[in-house]
Amino acid sequence: MKTRITELFGIEHPIIQGGMHFVGFAELASAVSNAGGLGIITGLTQGTPENLAKEIHRCRDMTNKPFGVNLTFLPSVTPPDYPGYIKSIIDGGVKIVETAGNNPQKWLPALKEAGIKVIHKCTSVRHSLKAESIGCDAVSVDGFECGGHPGEDDVPNFILLPRAAEELKIPFVASGGMADGRSLVAALSLGADGMNMGTRFMATKEAPIHEHVKQALVAASELDTRLVMRPLRNTERVLKNAAVERLLEKEKALGPKIKFEDILPEVAGVYPRIMKKGEMDAGAWSCGMVAGLINDVPTVKELIDRIMLEADTIIGQRLSRLMAA
Ligand SMILES: Cc1cc2nc3c(=O)[nH]c(=O)nc-3n(C[C@H](O)[C@H](O)[C@H](O)COP(=O)(O)O)c2cc1C
Repeated sequence: MKTRITELFGIEHPIIQGGMHFVGFAELASAVSNAGGLGIITGLTQGTPENLAKEIHRCRDMTNKPFGVNLTFLPSVTPPDYPGYIKSIIDGGVKIVETAGNNPQKWLPALKEAGIKVIHKCTSVRHSLKAESIGCDAVSVDGFECGGHPGEDDVPNFILLPRAAEELKIPFVASGGMADGRSLVAALSLGADGMNMGTRFMATKEAPIHEHVKQALVAASELDTRLVMRPLRNTERVLKNAAVERLLEKEKALGPKIKFEDILPEVAGVYPRIMKKGEMDAGAWSCGMVAGLINDVPTVKELIDRIMLEADTIIGQRLSRLMAA
């Protein structure tokens, strides 16, 4: 399958693995790239620019295909060493960066000068247009269904994607709720040039996370996610668990007076405990509604091959038969 996204990134299939905190290590990124998609290492998860440089080297040892690095720009009092992370990306010869969070404009000149293609993750048409206007090469349009931060507009992909297609000139991928060949064909039909998956890639053999997390995804239904931190305008879609129930109780009790400090036990530093140690109630962790479509833990290659075969069958048989009838 050839789309503007496969051409832009030099990949075989229009499937991207979005950056994921404490999931996006070299094992997963290289597996996705080796299977013909675009794997992405999560920059900030590495902790320091030096560690990111090492992770890039490790990934390069595992694949000779293109892979990218995610840089998430968070509002924070003491920001991470972004110039250092960018230097590691450039020195490591990485040619694709997925940006997310705040406007990446400040960092674009350095990335562009190094010949890096930038795909920015957006949860609205207006942010997507902004990304286009500042020179991003593509956008990842993240609908309300998505795991992680869906923004505050709550527009699901059935509306958001065609709206993005109406307005954008640069290519974009559909993100949020994508799981299989049906998702890919739907995304293409709605005007996207491919799809980005987060949650689905966690439930794969190569995802370097605890088995408990993978089993929780297989067990979960589409009804099992919750939105937290809405009163802080930092909404995150997470899988429900004891910590999330506690967090929501606090939100209810404190109302608009709630501060980030009030929920620190439920959100701060919980990822390593969940992803590495499998402590499933340690805190809130991002998870998409797409959990309802996850029923197994295949290898990344099995997953991607299955998606492409299913997409091919839907387009070549089901849809074309409907047209012929
Ligand atoms: C566990 C987890 C951690 C995530 N961490 C990040 C992150 O650090 N930076 C980022 O830009 N997106 C992050 N995301 C969002 C994904 O890159 C992707 O946009 C999202 O998962 C797509 O929705 P889906 O889960 O329905 O596929 C995370 C998602 C999950 C599930």
